[in-house]
Amino acid sequence: MENMPYRVELELQTLQAPIGEVTRGEVTSTDWQNGLPVLGGTQVTLRELRASDAPSLFALLTTEEVTRFISPPPTTVEGFEKFIAWTIRQRTAGTYVCFAVTPKGYDTAIGIFQIRETEPGFGTAEWGFAIGSPFWGTGVFQESADLVLEFAFETVGVHRLEARSAVRNGRGNGALRKLGAVQEGLLRKSFLRNGEYLDQVLYAIVEDDWRFSREMARPIHAPRIH
Ligand SMILES: CC(C)(COP(=O)(O)OP(=O)(O)OC[C@H]1O[C@@H](n2cnc3c(N)ncnc32)[C@H](O)[C@@H]1OP(=O)(O)O)[C@@H](O)C(=O)NCCC(=O)NCCS
Repeated sequence: MENMPYRVELELQTLQAPIGEVTRGEVTSTDWQNGLPVLGGTQVTLRELRASDAPSLFALLTTEEVTRFISPPPTTVEGFEKFIAWTIRQRTAGTYVCFAVTPKGYDTAIGIFQIRETEPGFGTAEWGFAIGSPFWGTGVFQESADLVLEFAFETVGVHRLEARSAVRNGRGNGALRKLGAVQEGLLRKSFLRNGEYLDQVLYAIVEDDWRFSREMARPIHAPRIH
């Protein structure tokens, strides 16, 4: 494993100052190509990446356990700064978005969600995500994913959202399944990682299924009896 320039625990103790509160589901802008909206949950706030996110993302997303089954992230803080600048250019071009995940009430990026179009106009798209391991199993992923799915289907106009996950990536597969992603295929030896071609599972969530499961999850209000 790479030597970390500073310890993740210290980073987490020095979370940056709280930012303005955003209520659940509130979208403060809808013109995402000019700037991503802030997506507010109860545990997390998702917002556009900034150059100042580079140090925390470098600390949290370059560990062996996070990177084992994903494309190698930048290897330096400067590399993350360049990546962040690239994400803004791609968003402006309308082909890609990347949200920073921040714990509610703080402004430190602890993970990212990326969505890229796979056909012009963003009708079909692919997403990927990574969260710092201290936040695994905390509900941060689930809530962030719900916000990103709503953004993709409601704001961007995606109708089919694909994901690929290495067969060996137990957490990645478990995370996608619990969101309702459907396994559609096995992509044999499709992903080169550490000199080895890995098999991947192809998942998709289609807009109709997402809408249906969201309706099913809504609390049913009993009719009032007078
Ligand atoms: C993928 C990731 C964002 C998910 O976040 P997370 O907080 O770990 O996800 P959660 O704990 O909410 O959900 C994972 C689910 O998989 C389950 N799981 C864990 N290990 C598993 C395994 N080996 N096999 C099957 N399921 C597994 C968990 O129990 C959990 O389900 P549950 O909430 O019903 O118990 C995070 O693990 C991560 O960043 N991983 C590294 C990067 C990565 O692999 N990205 C995904 C590429 S597809």
